[in-house]
Amino acid sequence: MRIVLVGPPGAGKGTQASFLAENLSIPHISTGDLFRANISQGTPLGQKAQEYMRAGQLVPDEVTIGMAKDRMQEPDAASGFLLDGFPRNIAQAEALDAYLAETGQKLDAVLDLEVPEDEVVKRIAGRRICRNDSSHVFHVEYSPPKQDGVCDVCGGELYQRDDDREETVRKRLAVYHSETEPIIDHYKAQDLVTTISALGEVGEVTARAMQALRRD
Ligand code: AP5
Ligand code: ZN
Repeated sequence: MRIVLVGPPGAGKGTQASFLAENLSIPHISTGDLFRANISQGTPLGQKAQEYMRAGQLVPDEVTIGMAKDRMQEPDAASGFLLDGFPRNIAQAEALDAYLAETGQKLDAVLDLEVPEDEVVKRIAGRRICRNDSSHVFHVEYSPPKQDGVCDVCGGELYQRDDDREETVRKRLAVYHSETEPIIDHYKAQDLVTTISALGEVGEVTARAMQALRRD
């Protein structure tokens, strides 16, 4: 299956993507995680991305689209993938459409996670991620690690993301509304969108998402 996950910052895309990718045996491709891995390895791509991410802005399309395509060309993505955080504007959605058409692939579903803004703010404020791998995600209240400040998956140190400060979160939400939300209509025109509520326990949301994907 080829799936795009859309939703505001803090909606739980990364959290759900880990479970869904495992259930469906497809790789979880998160452009945010790819950028953070490049930043921690000090690559030129990471250096370029860092200033935009810190400011809560989108990293330029020419950097992002190339990186996403490279990842989709890896062997583990040959029969499907779950995209988390890409595409994030109309230009990226059009580039993805063109790439899929050129390579004889097509999307099966676009899953839109809906969450009220006050819940998003609570989720982001309590989020802690792992220094070794930013896809290891916890929440101080909603999904606390077994040991304070330590990743359950790999034992790495947990910390708060640079872009999770309040003023940056507000900027990211504004960018989501102005640049990312329009891709939902772009995909509605292709009859691919299913909107689900991302409120409730993590497992409940995963079950809802799996049901929505089966219906498609
Ligand atoms: P990215 O990393 O994609 O961030 P985001 O879209 O803002 O989303 P988040 O990672 O903040 O949230 P999430 O929805 O994954 O929630 P999570 O599962 O962690 O992008 C970061 C930056 O990179 C961008 O601002 C941009 O600069 C750049 N970038 C990335 N992609 C780009 C692109 N395509 N083009 C240009 N620039 C790009 O959950 C949040 C918290 O809530 C966690 O603590 C979790 O434990 C908790 N939680 C999750 N589910 C539940 C639940 N059901 N109940 C209670 N708590 C929950
Ligand atoms: Zn970890």
